[in-house]
Amino acid sequence: MAERSLDRKQIQSELDRCVAVLEKNMKRFGTDFPSACATDGRYRIKKNDDWTNGFWTGMLWMAYEYTGRDAFKELALQNVASFEQRLEEHFVLDHHDIGFLYSLSVAAAWKITGDESIRPLVIRAADVLMARFQERGGFIQAWGKAGDPKEFRLIIDSLLNLPLLYTAFEMTGEARYREVAETHYQNVIHHIVRDDFSTYHTFYFDAETGKPDHGATHQGFSDQSCWARGQAWAILGMPLHRRLSGMEFTEEEQTLYSGVLEYFESHLPKDGMPYWDLIFTDGSDQPRDSSALAVAACGMLEMGNTARAEEMVLTLKEGASSEVEPESEGILLHGVYAYAEGKGVDEPNLWGDYFYMEALYRLWNPDWNPYW
Ligand code: GLY
Repeated sequence: MAERSLDRKQIQSELDRCVAVLEKNMKRFGTDFPSACATDGRYRIKKNDDWTNGFWTGMLWMAYEYTGRDAFKELALQNVASFEQRLEEHFVLDHHDIGFLYSLSVAAAWKITGDESIRPLVIRAADVLMARFQERGGFIQAWGKAGDPKEFRLIIDSLLNLPLLYTAFEMTGEARYREVAETHYQNVIHHIVRDDFSTYHTFYFDAETGKPDHGATHQGFSDQSCWARGQAWAILGMPLHRRLSGMEFTEEEQTLYSGVLEYFESHLPKDGMPYWDLIFTDGSDQPRDSSALAVAACGMLEMGNTARAEEMVLTLKEGASSEVEPESEGILLHGVYAYAEGKGVDEPNLWGDYFYMEALYRLWNPDWNPYW
């Protein structure tokens, strides 16, 4: 396939469009939050009660950095107050997605404003995540009551929660944050990647012995198939860990990473937009998951592969940009949240919007300091 690239004008016009969608949405959502995924292109108005609220705040911060407009910063700071309250009340925080929530909101606020009063919030959030670390097994338990044998597992998405621990390490110098992140990371890459470099969505450990047990899916087609977004979480999560840990890939990691990327690439249909599970190929009438490609594009940028990232962003722009649906509250159409539950199927979702905007913004401003 001939290399396709984006020019700066296209990136700028798409970023301007992201800003316009956010401005419109800000009026409707105020200090509340959009739901995780849309229905018929509209997000529901919700409190700060899901794993996805950070994506909204992260987009506000990016819009502020891109435009310099105070309205974005003011609302993002109001969101930060909401995240502080959520921490105070430990409201819907009994899961591992604390990194998705607090890196893009509170840690971003600290990085952008330099306000030192925000520092303790980041550390408190990191401690909530640390509390889910299971010594037996050496991993951060994704869901459920900590230690519950039925939920004694990690999931591939967790790679995006680890940056918060590295931020806490940077702030405090306390090695325990880095050690937990590193131990968890090693368990993810060694158990969740299969021999053919496809990935399980989740991986169980024996709650009594801590020994690795078996892989299983949660949002994929089957236990043995490869959930597209899971593969994309690895494509972004591994290079994020490389940057934040300051450790170059070992030969083994490089082999794993190349294999995971190649598996994703070789299971894309001809038009480059992944189906929601990589078991589906050209000719299938299953829905696509644009959000998986947006996550992978950020992974390519984290790896320094700008040419491939541009192709992916162009595929997203041509096949999923909501410029063709001006009424949509989403930025990126055609995502899938959880197919089996019929949740957010062929709809925009907040992380698709966020990672598409992040990929565009990384291309626009290569010197940008990511919130991760
Ligand atoms: N982290 C949950 C998801 O990707 O749907």
